[in-house]
Amino acid sequence: MIFTVAIDGPAAAGKGTISRAVAARFGFAHLDTGLLYRAVGAKVAAGVEPEAAALALVPADLDAAGLRTLAAGQAASRVAALPAVRAALIEFQRRFARQEGGAVLDGRDIGTVICPEAEVKLYVTASPEIRAHRRWLEVGGDAGQVLAEVRERDARDMHRADAPLRPAADAVVIDTSDMPVEEAIARATALIAAHMESP
Ligand code: DC
Repeated sequence: MIFTVAIDGPAAAGKGTISRAVAARFGFAHLDTGLLYRAVGAKVAAGVEPEAAALALVPADLDAAGLRTLAAGQAASRVAALPAVRAALIEFQRRFARQEGGAVLDGRDIGTVICPEAEVKLYVTASPEIRAHRRWLEVGGDAGQVLAEVRERDARDMHRADAPLRPAADAVVIDTSDMPVEEAIARATALIAAHMESP
């Protein structure tokens, strides 16, 4: 069975939690595509040319320590604006999306660019203040600076020319600002189950 769930949205909206939960529930493979850009950002910070870094990515790069920090997120967002980097990562993501057994991909452009034919598309969002607060609970530090970084990354990801962050026309929007994560997971699960019953 080929079945793709595309989950897009800004940082710390809950994409990762929802993706992991629905992947486990349906036995689908899961790819956190942000890790691809984070790994490229880390290689670029170490002096590698951006496109070469993207073309040379190997699975072990995605486990590297330090990819979850705020700084790694900013570095990822910067290299993600480069068309050559995005182009180098497209085929891998498309193959992953259409693998036998089903796949969940979360990112910024899965429903719009990587997999416009995805069976289920979600756009998971929340207010910048709530997302920054969630991120601050994870990473600590100065709350004002965390909010500023969330806003800066949103602006860059939404306004870049190539594959900007936006909901696909046929995406279902889930705003998690005032929603317990269990409810967001239940909604995503119901949408997928409904599509499997009557495609
Ligand atoms: O989801 P994340 O916070 O790990 O993503 C880090 C950055 O990578 C994000 O700010 C923009 C970029 N990204 C992207 O451009 N396209 C994706 N599909 C996933 C992430």
